[in-house]
Amino acid sequence: MTTNRTFTMIKPDAVKNGHIGAILDKINASGFKIVAMKYTHLSKTDAERFYAVHSERPFYGELVEFMSSGPIVAAVLEKENAVEDFRVLIGSTNPEEAAEGTIRKLYATSIGENAVHGSDSDENAAIESDFHFSQREIY
Ligand code: CMP
Repeated sequence: MTTNRTFTMIKPDAVKNGHIGAILDKINASGFKIVAMKYTHLSKTDAERFYAVHSERPFYGELVEFMSSGPIVAAVLEKENAVEDFRVLIGSTNPEEAAEGTIRKLYATSIGENAVHGSDSDENAAIESDFHFSQREIY
């Protein structure tokens, strides 16, 4: 089922480097409606749980450390074809491979510190949104 929603996080690197406003502007300008949003700080346990699917990957420890290293912005976004369109907007995981004008090309510094997260499927968008937001926090 297509929900027309995706989940995103503005990661600690982009928050620390002052890019929250620019990234939210780009998200709005690209036709996404923000239906839930919070400024928060993941604990190490939160980051381990959120990224549990990557627990066997060699970069898991580094990913967990980074994602719990500072505040993030978590949000649920709505738009027709949201998951796919948002992944186009953010660009490739590795900013060196990201297309010109994408969020990661503009604001990411490395494959690990890549400015934003975007869900990779409708199913994961729902799981990830539920991780951060109750139904009462989505408008
Ligand atoms: P994200 O879209 O949040 O989903 C998983 C994250 O793992 C990814 O963005 C990257 O930040 C991180 N990641 C993926 N590959 C690597 C890698 N080779 N080295 C470090 N981090 C990685």
